[in-house]
Amino acid sequence: MSRKENIINIKVNEKWCEFSLDRDITSNMTLSFLLREKLGLTGLKVSCDEGACGACTVLMDGKAVLSCLTLAVQAHGHEIITIEGLAENDPVVKAFSEQCEPGYGTALQCGFCTPGFVMSTKALLNENPKPSLSEVKEALSGHICRCGCYAGIAKAVLHAGEKLEAGGKKS
Ligand code: FES
Ligand code: FES
Repeated sequence: MSRKENIINIKVNEKWCEFSLDRDITSNMTLSFLLREKLGLTGLKVSCDEGACGACTVLMDGKAVLSCLTLAVQAHGHEIITIEGLAENDPVVKAFSEQCEPGYGTALQCGFCTPGFVMSTKALLNENPKPSLSEVKEALSGHICRCGCYAGIAKAVLHAGEKLEAGGKKS
């Protein structure tokens, strides 16, 4: 997409933001840096900063992207949604927060990995509202939870799909 006079326009959580290249954004600035340090959207986490943990995941045009591996300028003309852009009663957020099934446990302990898992789950359910357990595992395989809540997370994703089917809304 062409840019006019070094202006970068990015839609972030429903609002278009305008940035000046070189003044607000440098050509090598990552999207994670822009979102966290310039816009204060600190829900996404930067843990490995090299594409290996999923903590920095956001949605770009509805698809999950690693914001630590995406340049801010690559988001020009695109729509970004971060965890802050989801409704409080979002079915995925609810499913993660409610998860406590015996035998599977909680979907979060420290919560550091949770925003990334939630955003990848949003992307998965946008495309496949009723995934199988193996599809859930495949879709979330790039994420690391250092607290080891994988069983609870997988259950939460399945429950989020059920909530959507029962009348919840997609982002
Ligand atoms: S911080 Fe981006 S993948 Fe780990
Ligand atoms: S809940 Fe602590 S890293 Fe996943």
